[in-house]
This record gives sequence, structure tokens and C-alpha cells, in this order.
Amino acid sequence: METKTYPDYETLSAAVAQIMCDNIRQKPTAVICLASGHTPLLPCRLFVQKANDEHLHISEATFLGLDEWVGVPPENEGSCHYFLYNTVFNPLGLQAGQIHVFNGMAEDLSIECETMDDVIENNGGIDLMIVGIGMNGHIGFNEPGVPFNHLSHVIELDKTTIEVGQKYFPAATTLTKGITIGLQHLMNANKVLLIANGEKKAAIIQQTIESEVSNQIPATIMQTHKNGIIMIDAAASSLLS
Ligand code: PGA
Repeated sequence: METKTYPDYETLSAAVAQIMCDNIRQKPTAVICLASGHTPLLPCRLFVQKANDEHLHISEATFLGLDEWVGVPPENEGSCHYFLYNTVFNPLGLQAGQIHVFNGMAEDLSIECETMDDVIENNGGIDLMIVGIGMNGHIGFNEPGVPFNHLSHVIELDKTTIEVGQKYFPAATTLTKGITIGLQHLMNANKVLLIANGEKKAAIIQQTIESEVSNQIPATIMQTHKNGIIMIDAAASSLLS
């Protein structure tokens, strides 16, 4: 694992967008897994801008959504579906067959998980994964205590995730479970970028990089990834020793 620090969120975001474009240029059939949330917003916008400006050949790439709130419909502004379609998929003009996201409203969530696992396997694995980090060290909805060897799964949300998660929703929303790509997929991915910015992430970033690997802080798994990069701004790096 490597840690890269950037002066601010803008330069960090530009670096992420550059890696995304380079990845697709080198491998037009790349499988890219994207997180939603506040951190990926500018990286995703800059990626779309760059991809469109540079006429990046994007029609053979596959895009996966990292996770979804169970019971939240896609048209809800706080859903991961809403974020990814509005920020990335629609502005890029992707075809439906290039996009695979979880349906948090599905009657049988186990089929959602199996379908995602099959998509990943049938496309030869994930080439690039862009993930954020929760205040509790979660990645996607891999909450504290999650086994590291899970593929896609449904999980009870941690108290912190339920509280912090309200920030995405226009009105108070009942959140109980999440559906997520698991950490075994992250370990199998060719490259993973874990991105964080701002002072509020400094403590969890310090723990992620400097404490022992433990599923109590799921993001510590990054320490064991062969090609994992923690990309942070100066504020998020401020507690590193
Ligand atoms: P954020 O979310 O980017 O909105 O801070 C991070 C996360 O919970 O994964």
C-alpha cells in the first residue's frame, strides 16, 4: 500500500480523474467500481469532463456501483443509484449494458448479490476501484466487524453509518441495512484508490494507516493490498505520524 498526499481536494480529485482515464485508455474493456458519497463527487465530475473533452473511448468499459441503501428507491436523491447516474453514467452517455448497480428495493437481495458477483467474474474481475472511507472506517457498506472474505452481501448498518448517512437525504430517512460489494472483491481488484479529504477524516485515516489490520476498522485491509493507494488531502493527513 502507498499513501499519496495532495495539497487540497481539487488536486486530489484531478489525480483520481487522471488515473481513471489512464486506466480506460490502457484497457478499454476495464471494469471500474465507483463509490458514491461526498468525497467522490469532484473526482467523478472531473473524470466525466476529461473523458468527454478527450473523447475517451468509453463504450467498452464496465461500471459497477459499490453499494446501495436497502429500501431506498433509485429516484431518491440520497441513493447511490441517483448519485452515480446523475454524476457519471448519464453525463457520459453510457449504455445500460455497461452499468451494474444494486437495486436496494429488490425483493430478493441475494439475487442482487449473485448477479453482481457473476458480472465481476464474467468480466475478468475489477480493474480499478475508487472508494471513500466512513467515519467508522467502513468501505462501501463493509461495516466494522465484517469478515474480510465476503463477496457481495447484505449487512446491518453500523450506528455511525446510519447517523452520518442522513447527510445525503433531503429528509430524515430510516436506514437499517446496506447491500455492498465485499472486501474479498477489493482484495482481488487490480488497483484500489481509497480517497479522503478534510480534517474530519484525519483521525480515521490515521487509524487506517497506522493501526493493526483489523476488521473493526475495515479500511485497514488497504495495508495488505498489493496495489492499494490511499489518496488524501493535507487536512486528512494532518494526524499521520
Ligand atoms: P463521504 O462518505 O465521501 O460522503 O464522506 C464516505 C463513506 O462513508 O464511504
